[in-house]
Amino acid sequence: MHAPVLLKQVVDLLRVRPGGVYVDGTLGGGGHAEAILRAMGEGGLLVGIDRDPEALGRAADRLQHRASKCVFEQGNFADMKAIVQRHGIGEVDGIVLDLGMSSDQVDTARRGFSFQHEGPLDMRMNPEQQATAASLLATLDERELADLLYRLGEERASRRIARAIVAERAASPIHSTVQLAELVARVKGGPRGRIHPATQTFQALRMAVNRELESLEAGLEDGTALLRPGGRMAVISFHSIEDRLVKRTVAQHEGRWESLAAGGRRWEGRMPQVRRVTRKPVVADEEEVRANPRSRSAKLRVWERI
Ligand SMILES: C[S@@+](CC[C@H](N)C(=O)[O-])C[C@H]1O[C@@H](n2cnc3c(N)ncnc32)[C@H](O)[C@@H]1O
Repeated sequence: MHAPVLLKQVVDLLRVRPGGVYVDGTLGGGGHAEAILRAMGEGGLLVGIDRDPEALGRAADRLQHRASKCVFEQGNFADMKAIVQRHGIGEVDGIVLDLGMSSDQVDTARRGFSFQHEGPLDMRMNPEQQATAASLLATLDERELADLLYRLGEERASRRIARAIVAERAASPIHSTVQLAELVARVKGGPRGRIHPATQTFQALRMAVNRELESLEAGLEDGTALLRPGGRMAVISFHSIEDRLVKRTVAQHEGRWESLAAGGRRWEGRMPQVRRVTRKPVVADEEEVRANPRSRSAKLRVWERI
């Protein structure tokens, strides 16, 4: 089962209150949702969203005992405003996004997220969507592949890997996780230290298949707009590309005064306005990292609508 990260910190920093309305945009295994529901006590409502119907089913089972306070929706958190509006909700007290994939997804070989399990190169969080990792690998040209690996995986060997993919697919299609992992390991040299050489390639493909940055950008805007004054949004990211986007978006909503050459000053910032609750991102303590290695790279940022 998926172990939720920074659980106590999320509940505390969201200041979950009895009777409030909350959105969990990445329901996954339902760990954060369950803790929020517990802190809500009697009353209130939690809207749980996930793109992945399998995750939604599992979380709904887990949260059955609190079903009267939950609604579950399969969808993208980028559309959360429309989703909650369908339930007659115009503003909410708190939102959590716990980005990336769940252990349940990674450990299911047929979903194709892991280079450690032999499986099809799928990586779709929502299996109704068309593009898979295999279809991207088969159709993008060498330059597009290199750009993707560099931009979304910060992969320094992006050009060499892209060249090897194009050469390999000319001989036979690349359709399995292990086939791709071995190809990347051949290009970069075998595993060094803890990190498998294909880690960044898999991250980049997964982010491209699921258009994760586009969703995050929209989700941060929609979520912030949905908060009632005093409402809070908590986002957990797992790598620097996501964290930078979160940090930048919050800074834009925080705004700042800009001095004008002609004198006076002008407010530079987006509406609605927010204040940061966390100055620096909250990270897992040693104990959590020992118990759940996935928490090692987690960064939690929280802000409040004013
Ligand atoms: C890290 S897991 C969440 C785990 C969850 N917080 C828990 O405690 O069990 C991330 C989940 O978010 C879902 N997800 C990722 N991006 C999404 C998006 N844009 N919209 C909706 N769900 C998304 C994934 O399918 C996955 O189930």
